[in-house]
Amino acid sequence: MVAEQVVVHKGLEGIHFDTTKICHIDGQKGILLYRGYNIHDLAANATYEEVCYLLLHDKLPTKQELAEFDAALKANRTLPSVVMDIIRTFKDAHPMDVLRTAVSALGCIDPDVKDMSMEANYRKAIRLTAQFPTIVAAHERIRKGLEPVSPRDDLGHAANFLWMLKGEEPDPDAARAMDLDFILHAEHSSNASAFAARVAASTLADMHSAVVAAIAALKGPLHGGAAEAVMEMVEAIGEPERAEAWVQEQLAAKKRIMGFGHRVYKTEDPRARHLRELSQVLGERYGDPKTFQILRNIEKAMEPLRAKGIYVNVDFYAGSIYHYLGIPADLYIPIFAIGRIIGWVTHIIEQFSDNRILRPLLHYVGPMEREWVPIEQRG
Ligand SMILES: CC(C)(COP(=O)(O)OP(=O)(O)OC[C@H]1O[C@@H](n2cnc3c(N)ncnc32)[C@H](O)[C@@H]1OP(=O)(O)O)[C@@H](O)C(=O)NCCC(=O)NCCS
Repeated sequence: MVAEQVVVHKGLEGIHFDTTKICHIDGQKGILLYRGYNIHDLAANATYEEVCYLLLHDKLPTKQELAEFDAALKANRTLPSVVMDIIRTFKDAHPMDVLRTAVSALGCIDPDVKDMSMEANYRKAIRLTAQFPTIVAAHERIRKGLEPVSPRDDLGHAANFLWMLKGEEPDPDAARAMDLDFILHAEHSSNASAFAARVAASTLADMHSAVVAAIAALKGPLHGGAAEAVMEMVEAIGEPERAEAWVQEQLAAKKRIMGFGHRVYKTEDPRARHLRELSQVLGERYGDPKTFQILRNIEKAMEPLRAKGIYVNVDFYAGSIYHYLGIPADLYIPIFAIGRIIGWVTHIIEQFSDNRILRPLLHYVGPMEREWVPIEQRG
């Protein structure tokens, strides 16, 4: 028998499983485009709401279109009481588990639950995008023994999230920082969570089920969890002058430095630039330049690894932004999810629009045709 020639693409590295019109990444040049628009232009000029519209509809909105889209988001911010009850029941769980469970519950009672039409999927996409911040903020309040804060129609998506989280109106700089963070996290092609969403969608499961799959995939430290791990590292280092030695010790022990490395980027992640700048500004503004200084020193200590294509990624400075805004560490991944929900629903809609079930192969390397042994004879 001729041995089968099989090439295994571990981690599906380098595999294109479909075409897309949502997002382009050039990992060698450090270029990121949402629907053809450069992330640097979007970071400088857009609001998160505009980016959401762009991703969903493949065009920048007119003033009228944006006003209508914004109104639709605002009209969907409040959660059904049964979901609030679920959040209260599971208030001591990790916020990602609460988010996943709340979305699963929303999928049981969504007004379009049985409707798989494109129109219904756009309605679900807007509802989910509007509901994510409310779930995360309500859970944070409830677990602290506080009452949830109702959304405010006079505040944009990011400012309203901070308002619901803290019960006080954020200053414009904090609101813009959150808005920018959501823009930078909104979409990133076939990353693990978007891929998980597309796998579920490719079976023609409904949008809420696919979003639950995405939330589950985002939770791990190799994907959404890195920002939290970065801030744990900052705390462990303590002082800027200790950063270099700490990094050397970790590398010598063959440990990874969180917030560095990327499957696609082999140069600096273009999103990191904006978060670095924001981290410096907020550090000075909130009287904590030390955190930023420790991060800078870690980045300098990691420079030799650039030869291997390991550069800073989006998560490295993101955690410090949340830290400066007074947000607890276990909310960092759910905040990533609040920004990313729009990318997930856009991918789910794209998958539905030209679907083929995603079903790769595994190359079997175990024993063949083993002899069945009755239970009495097993040693
Ligand atoms: C993102 C990540 C999972 C990509 O993984 P990947 O494409 O499978 O890359 P690999 O795990 O094959 O790593 C390739 C090499 O780079 C090294 N490397 C990758 N990331 C590293 C890091 N953060 N620190 C130190 N070394 C790293 C690996 O040890 C490996 O070295 P080797 O070839 O000598 O064994 C990986 O870079 C990582 O674990 N980073 C830290 C977590 C993180 O920041 N995640 C957020 C991503 S946005």
